[in-house]
Amino acid sequence: MTTRVLTGITTSGTPHLGNYAGAIRPAIAASLKPDTESFYFLADYHSLIKIADPVRVQRSTLEIAATWLAAGLNPDKVWFYRQSDIPQIPELTWLLTCVAGKGLLNRAHAYKAAVDINTAKQEDEDAGITAGLFMYPVLMAADIVLFGANKVPVGRDQIQHIEMARDFAARFNHSYGEHLVLPEAVIEESVATLPGLDGRKMSKSYDNTIPLFAGQAELKKLIAGIVTDSRLPGEAKDPDNSHLFSLYQAFSSAEKCAGFRQALLDGLSWGEAKQALFETINIEVAPMREQYEALIANPEKIERQLQAGAEKARAIAAPLMRELRYAVGLRNLGDIASKTKKVIEKKAVPTFKQYRESDGKFYFKFLNAHGDLLLQSLAFATPKEAGKCIADLKSGDLALSGVQAFAVFPDGIGSADVEAGLAALRAVSEEKN
Ligand code: TRP
Repeated sequence: MTTRVLTGITTSGTPHLGNYAGAIRPAIAASLKPDTESFYFLADYHSLIKIADPVRVQRSTLEIAATWLAAGLNPDKVWFYRQSDIPQIPELTWLLTCVAGKGLLNRAHAYKAAVDINTAKQEDEDAGITAGLFMYPVLMAADIVLFGANKVPVGRDQIQHIEMARDFAARFNHSYGEHLVLPEAVIEESVATLPGLDGRKMSKSYDNTIPLFAGQAELKKLIAGIVTDSRLPGEAKDPDNSHLFSLYQAFSSAEKCAGFRQALLDGLSWGEAKQALFETINIEVAPMREQYEALIANPEKIERQLQAGAEKARAIAAPLMRELRYAVGLRNLGDIASKTKKVIEKKAVPTFKQYRESDGKFYFKFLNAHGDLLLQSLAFATPKEAGKCIADLKSGDLALSGVQAFAVFPDGIGSADVEAGLAALRAVSEEKN
C-alpha cells in the first residue's frame, strides 16, 4: 500500500543551512522511496499569521520554491504546490472549524504562549492575538486531511497540531461517516539539528543562521564568525564540544569526519578548521546555488511549475471536497426530487463486545463502525477484569502502547486504527453527555 507523506513550509523567511540539513535534504531523499507519495507545499496562508508585509511573503515564497527545486525535488514525482492555489483548503478549513472543539484550540501551545506573555504583562489575555493565530491548527488540519496524508514529518513543536488534526478528522467522520484519513506525526530522531553561529540551535528567531544560498564570500565570512574556544594552533581541540565540528558532520561522509576529528585532536588551528568547513559546505551547496540563482532570475518559470503542481493537487482535492460537501448537506437541491425513498442514515459507532468462550474464560473484541475487528483481547479469568480493561481503554487510562499485555491487533491493524476507533467512541459519549 502506498503511504502519503505531507509537509508544509511556511513562507516566512529565507532558507538556511539548518532548514536544509534538518528538513529539505531528508524530505527530498524520502520522496524517492518506493510506495511513497509525497506532498510538499508552500504554506503561504500560514505566513499571513506571522507577517503583514506583502513583499516579504512574496519574496519568501519565491525563495523557498526555488530552494526546493534547486535542492533536487522532482515535481513530476511529487506533489509540489502553493497552498493558496488550492481553494479547497480554506473551504475544508470551515467544515473542520465547525467540528473543532474551541476548548481544544484554547490549549494549543502557540496560542497559550501568546496568552502567557499577555498575562505576564498584566494585559488582557487576548490582547493583540488574532483569530488567525487561534485557528491556525484548523487550517493546518485542512492542509493535511484534504490530501489523505498518512504521515506528517514534523518537529516536536508540531506534534500537538497533528494530534488536533486527528481529533478534528475523527469528529468529522463520527458525524458524517468515514471520509477522512487520520494522520500520524513522524518524528525523525536521526535528522540533524544544526547549531547556529553562536552555538544555539540554528534558527531565524535567534538571528544566528547561515543562509543556504549565501554567496561564497558571505558564506566564508559567516563561517569565520562561528564561535569557538580560544585554543591556539597546535593545541588539541575537543571535537565533541565544537559547533564547528557538528556543522562539518552534517555535510560530510563518516570517513571525512573521522579525518577531521583527528586533525582537530592533533591541533589544527581554528582558522584552518573554518577553511575546511567552508570547503565542505561549499562543495555540496555550490551546484545547487547555481541552480537557485538561475531559478530566482526566472520567477515566471517557477510560477508555471507551481501552477502545474496546483493543478495536480486540485485533482485530488476537488473530488474529496465534493464528497465532503455532499456529506455535510451542501447539496444540489435537484437531488431531493430524484430521491424516491427517504434514506435514514444511521450513525455507525465502534463497539466493544464482551463474551465467554468454550474454554470458560472471558474475552472482548473492539470493532469499528463497519464491524471490522480492531482489537482482540486475550483471556481474562473474570468478566470484571475484562470490563476493567475495556473501561481503561475507553477512558485512555490504558495507553495503547501497554495494551499488548491484554490484547492483540489483527493483521493489518495498528494502534493508529484502534486509537481512531476510540476517538470516535469518545466523541459519541461526549455528545450524549
Ligand atoms: N505549521 C508548520 C510549521 O510551522 C507548517 C505547516 C503548515 C505544516 N501546514 C502544514 C506542516 C501541514 C505539516 C503539515 O512548521
